[in-house]
Amino acid sequence: MVKTHRKVVVIGAGSVGTTYIYALLQTGLASEIALIDLDAKRVEGEIMDLSHGLPFIPPVSVKAGTYDDCADAHLIVVTAGAKQTPGQSRIELIQKNAQIVQSICAQIRSSGSTAVVLMVTNPVDTLTQVAQRHLELPRGSVIGSGTVLDSARFKYMLSRHCGIDARNVHAYILGEHGDSEVPAWSMTHIAGIPIREYCEICKVCDYPRHHEQIAREVRDSAYHIIDYKGSTFYGIGLSLLRISGAILRDEHSVLTVSTLLEGEYGLKDICLSIPCIVGENGVERIIAARLPAAEQEGLERSAEILRGVLQSVSV
Ligand code: LAC
Repeated sequence: MVKTHRKVVVIGAGSVGTTYIYALLQTGLASEIALIDLDAKRVEGEIMDLSHGLPFIPPVSVKAGTYDDCADAHLIVVTAGAKQTPGQSRIELIQKNAQIVQSICAQIRSSGSTAVVLMVTNPVDTLTQVAQRHLELPRGSVIGSGTVLDSARFKYMLSRHCGIDARNVHAYILGEHGDSEVPAWSMTHIAGIPIREYCEICKVCDYPRHHEQIAREVRDSAYHIIDYKGSTFYGIGLSLLRISGAILRDEHSVLTVSTLLEGEYGLKDICLSIPCIVGENGVERIIAARLPAAEQEGLERSAEILRGVLQSVSV
């Protein structure tokens, strides 16, 4: 049943957290939104600014929150932490952001919350796993935004390339939300036709050369955006909105969120993205498909890199 009271707590008042709130407010998806950040003045300013738009949108309460707000929340979205500087990889943020996430998780835990926790702070896969360890919630309730954004970038770029509505392109990026991500060409299709076959029929491009170029562009997108404007927030903001919709409306949507694997795809004890069914309790089911050898190897490589990052974390 669709809930009428839907409370979302956002931790982190930076550009990702506030852009997400700005998008969330307009949908009517949440009835209550609380924003938490160490910088109370910043929160106050953001809440004032956001509230001044309330006369134009469906009723919603938006306020400066505390960790007590987590107690009756349905969804907690963690965006707090240091962001990448130009040329810096997501993985390089691990030491700093692991400490921050650990302290946030301790406070969520003390609130007694049983909400789904959506991790966004980078490196998101490892920090989802850190949060899993500290929150002691069911496996599916602590998830990461993972490659939902990368999959969107992939769909968008394929849609432009093929001249087709992005909503009609089904495409998935698996593995790390980062440099070792894996474009799952085997799962990518248009009108039910596998992409390679579609390209053979369409004959517009010179594939596979163009396919490789698209995969590179998807992987390097964030580096370009950070280089041009300092940070990314609109794409991730809408990705978070999509994941929130799946949770708050119990949609059972297929999304490449980051989740803890326990044997699926031959991988164990590592958080990374693969297609999952997402509903009100977070990940309800992992779709364990059989991948072609090259994609399976790519996923294993991603897992190996993430294992190394996890081992370097002292929390
Ligand atoms: C990006 C950040 C969110 O890929 O990691 O835009």
